Amino acid sequence: MRLVVLVSGTGTNLQALLDACADPAYGAEVVAVGADRDGIEGLARAQRAGVPTFVCRVRDHESRADWDGALLEAVAAYEPDLVVSAGFMKLVGPPLLERFPMVNTHPALCPAFPGTQGAADALAYGVKVTGATLFVVDDGVDTGPIVAQATVPVADDDTPASLHERIKVVERSMLVDSIGRMAREGWSVTGRHVRIG
Ligand code: GAR
Repeated sequence: MRLVVLVSGTGTNLQALLDACADPAYGAEVVAVGADRDGIEGLARAQRAGVPTFVCRVRDHESRADWDGALLEAVAAYEPDLVVSAGFMKLVGPPLLERFPMVNTHPALCPAFPGTQGAADALAYGVKVTGATLFVVDDGVDTGPIVAQATVPVADDDTPASLHERIKVVERSMLVDSIGRMAREGWSVTGRHVRIG
């Protein structure tokens, strides 16, 4: 399964995928990594792995619709079977979603705490358990059909950063495990239900 991975930051989820894809038995390969900004560790990780990269910045385009079109063009050049949003902090518009299936990993138990601050919002709310969700991207914000979830207990002395780091540990294994199974066994979506195999 050919993956294009989209990142905006440190790219530890991307790194977990790159490491898994080094084994041909995993069933997937990262054929390109795209970002919405320059100079991030996620792009450096791709370059160190010898994976092609591209950058598509909103501010280089006259409108969000133009950016959506440019992002589609950049992704389509690599003919992915699946686009993986792994810490990509932009909402992606219909052009890309209508052409390619896309999954996103989010640091909370969807549908709770959508948006850009999933770990901090869960901590502020006072939940005792939170986690990570891998879902198929639809036209909402972190609302799509769920592929997998993993839970993390909240500690009394957690800060947003400490909680997010613990979530990211389970998030990386959930992502690697799910993408590998999707690649090897196939997958489908019926209504809100994602089935692997
Ligand atoms: C991950 O925890 C991911 O779930 C989150 O950004 C982090 C990226 O970490 N994404 C979102 O919050 C999207 N709503 P990474 O760059 O080290 O993989």
